[in-house]
Amino acid sequence: RYMKRQMLCRADIGRLDAPFVAIYESLIPPEEEKAKQKQLLSLLEKIVGKEWPDARLYIYGSCANSFGFSKSDIDICLRIDDADVNKSELLLKLADMLQSENLQNVQALTRARVPIVKLMDPATDISCDICINNVLAVFNTKLLRDYAQIDVRLRQLAFIVKHWAKSRGVNETYQGTLSSYAYVLMCIHFLQQRRPPILPCLQEMKTTHYVTIDNVVCAYFDQVENLVGFGSNNRESIAQLVWGFFNYWAYHHDYANDVISVRTGSILSKRSKDWTRRIGNDRHLVCIEDPFEVTHDLGRVVDKRSIKVLREEFERAAEIMQYDFNPCVKLFEPYIP
Ligand code: GTP
Ligand code: MG
Repeated sequence: RYMKRQMLCRADIGRLDAPFVAIYESLIPPEEEKAKQKQLLSLLEKIVGKEWPDARLYIYGSCANSFGFSKSDIDICLRIDDADVNKSELLLKLADMLQSENLQNVQALTRARVPIVKLMDPATDISCDICINNVLAVFNTKLLRDYAQIDVRLRQLAFIVKHWAKSRGVNETYQGTLSSYAYVLMCIHFLQQRRPPILPCLQEMKTTHYVTIDNVVCAYFDQVENLVGFGSNNRESIAQLVWGFFNYWAYHHDYANDVISVRTGSILSKRSKDWTRRIGNDRHLVCIEDPFEVTHDLGRVVDKRSIKVLREEFERAAEIMQYDFNPCVKLFEPYIP
């Protein structure tokens, strides 16, 4: 079933560009949503500033990395440079403050893997998660946003892939499938690998942006306005790329040996990273290296059961892209268990 197959791209693939672009455009958040997010951010800044004047708030995740859909929740990081902060206490205090300012559904989740306060703002109708000092996420958000500026095909491909993953139920880390962040990294890697390449490898270029956070170095070329047009020698269209992406993950990725790495713009071996065996809960059944935290495998959530689900979904998508007359309908058909 998982045999490698060499398939030729269907002849009428160009006919599918318009519907894919239309789906992409329908998912882009309208400008007024951005304005509402800013409004909520300033409200939160005001509330937080009363208690912690030196603290800062950053939007990260899909609302800031340019891969967010319309109506998504916003992720906010509270940066507070207090050496002896107890995160749980801080979150509980923050939750109290927010509650007394009439924000709704305020809830502190102090035991989560990333502890957060959740809230809903009735004025803007936006839900939001606030975490503390997760500064690395702020910088990987910037890396993704910078990649998105180089070639519009990244944003198009990632929107289609995320929309597919959400429709098919394979964007649920608590069920062993992949995060949106992992899917975007898969898209960036895929476009770095095209020949000629559609995206460069920013971390292999001259460093123009440098920060260290918790001993992790985030260094790369971030003057991306100078890279617009980088991929113009590659004329592949969105439909071809969607087809190629699913074909790669269905039939060509070597799950037994390979690690995809946006950091190096190449494929690394599991052996070189010592990701060949299960350690604790990390099984490394599909390996996606975090661009900054290089010991971190975003595929760690995938287990024996969910790898099967994922690979069957990749194959299903590849088959639809290959044979279906109207793939845009079937591809996003909701999965009903
Ligand atoms: P949607 O909410 O599904 O639209 O996507 P999202 O981009 O907000 O993705 P997600 O909720 O998966 O993650 C939010 C942000 O958290 C990402 O953009 C990353 O910056 C960060 N993040 C998520 N997972 C990890 C992880 O495993 N490691 C690190 N370092 N950061 C992560
Ligand atoms: Mg999010």
